Amino acid sequence: MFKRTHTCGELDRSFVDEIVKLNGWVNTVRLHGKIVFVDLRDRYGKTQLVFDENSFSEDFGKIKKLSIEDVISIKGFVNNRDDSSINPDMKTGNIEIIVSEFIILNESSPLPFVLSDRSSAEEQFRLKYRYLELRIEELQKNLMFRHDTYQATRDYLSKNNFLEIETPILMKSTPEGARDYLVPSRLHHGKFYALPQSPQIYKQILMISGYDRYFQIVKCFRDEDLRADRQPEFTQIDIEMSFVDEEDIFSNMEDLTRAIFSTVKGIELPNPFPRITYRDAMELYGSDKPDTRYDMKLIDLKLFTDKSEFNAFSSVESVRGFVVKTGAKYSRKFIDELTEELKKHKAKGLAWIKYQEGKFIGGISKFFSESLQVEIVEYLKINDGDILFMVGDSNDIVCKSLGKLRNLIAEKEGLANKNNYKPIWVTEFPMFDYDEENKRFIAMHHPFTAPREEDIDKLDNSPAMALSRGYDLTMNGHEIAGGSIRIHSPKIQKKIFSLLGLSHEQAVEKFGFLVEALQYGAPPHGGIAFGFDRLVMLLAGTENIRDVIAFPKTTSATSLMDESPNYVDGSQLDELGLSLKG
Ligand code: AMO
Repeated sequence: MFKRTHTCGELDRSFVDEIVKLNGWVNTVRLHGKIVFVDLRDRYGKTQLVFDENSFSEDFGKIKKLSIEDVISIKGFVNNRDDSSINPDMKTGNIEIIVSEFIILNESSPLPFVLSDRSSAEEQFRLKYRYLELRIEELQKNLMFRHDTYQATRDYLSKNNFLEIETPILMKSTPEGARDYLVPSRLHHGKFYALPQSPQIYKQILMISGYDRYFQIVKCFRDEDLRADRQPEFTQIDIEMSFVDEEDIFSNMEDLTRAIFSTVKGIELPNPFPRITYRDAMELYGSDKPDTRYDMKLIDLKLFTDKSEFNAFSSVESVRGFVVKTGAKYSRKFIDELTEELKKHKAKGLAWIKYQEGKFIGGISKFFSESLQVEIVEYLKINDGDILFMVGDSNDIVCKSLGKLRNLIAEKEGLANKNNYKPIWVTEFPMFDYDEENKRFIAMHHPFTAPREEDIDKLDNSPAMALSRGYDLTMNGHEIAGGSIRIHSPKIQKKIFSLLGLSHEQAVEKFGFLVEALQYGAPPHGGIAFGFDRLVMLLAGTENIRDVIAFPKTTSATSLMDESPNYVDGSQLDELGLSLKG
């Protein structure tokens, strides 16, 4: 091998006539009679090589047989390309290397899919050969974004006095929301470690130990159902601070987010970030992660539908809707498809009215008198060619299903520009969700989230009404971070455990060390965790979390490249004192 003097993305006219040595992968081969052109590639770029038969009489056959993804090493001189052969799409397009010597370092077998075209193979197939897919420029760029995001994060936090501290990966199983991944112990048969769903308890304990500004870029593990923006193992920027309230957390985390966007993408985010309460987010956007890049807010229409003759809406709790500009063009088929989608979100149907040539047309128009039509048109500022969509049901179903509809319409109309970044804090979450099936409360964020001062009394009489000091940072319809001011009083912590249905004994068994630690001088504290992969996903402009992780898992939590999970030898099970059922 010739030790490389330069990378394949580096050379330009200032190097003309220099002797250089390059290493890399054969990206393309073009035969032109007595000349062979090869684009040589590494992660920095591509450089055109020129092999002239006159210089390689014996070896020219080998050069002609070079194939894509062979690894080669060359020596040659930098040649100025004449104007007609300049390639403006290549960083090195002004020059080429006239090769004098070459070594084939490794030949590649025929490729299982075409690397220049990701869409040529199913994702499942590409994940099996992830090492090949990672050679594609798009993924390399994503991993560079990821690298830059780590550095910007560490740089900002370190400069602002946050200490990076590692916490254990093998820990005690503590109920935190999702299912734990368990690790059996060889030395303690019958006992298990759990992989952390997040370092939540450790970081709170670090606050009690006096490390008042902590951070960690850390792997978390959750055995939950996966979606496009979820992975079973994912990365968080985990943060905790002492002697703070919400305002301190917001201003520090906004500064961090602004620093990341400005360093990694050169984008200046607003200062301050807007805020919305959970209730308003649900009622106006039908989502606790509102995409505010487009308008189409949900509007309460019950007052109007009650005046109409559309009886299906007269007995429901809530009727809301929104206007889609120029939506009167939608076909019956498309509206039917939307209706089917909404049914998945428990809506019984989707009512619609088109406004054309000054009157309501189609859908449920005939139930609205002319004067009512005028009132509605004025109130909603409907224009000719618009469509009004409405859902009537319980308020919860109405908001959530219309929230889904809002996203579908935005997708259809291309309203969600991925280069437009709209952060928004969501605040004042309820403390609890009620689990109808098991007839019990579950923590909306996690059991360590403090209730608002003014809602502490509600814990006794009406816990469902109590609001928390939790907050999420959302952006473009994604929850990119979530956190809260924590409970630092052992008494309130015990109360919350009991509301969550944990007896004193169970609470001590599961979280005894935290409850005990809270008794030895716990400072008021709070924190947050960013979903690092989601953040990078937004920065890289992709909708698929797998595109920003070097070795991701599939939606069924498998790794197709190394075939995990997999069976283990009986002897390994014996050592662990385990046997498989069935
Ligand atoms: P939470 O559970 O909200 O909070 O997680 C914080 C952030 O992590 C990201 N996230 C995920 N990303 C990818 N795949 C997943 N399966 C996944 N689950 C969560 C989200 C989310 O906003 N300990 C608390 C934080 C705290 O209170 O400080 C916690 O983990 O972007």
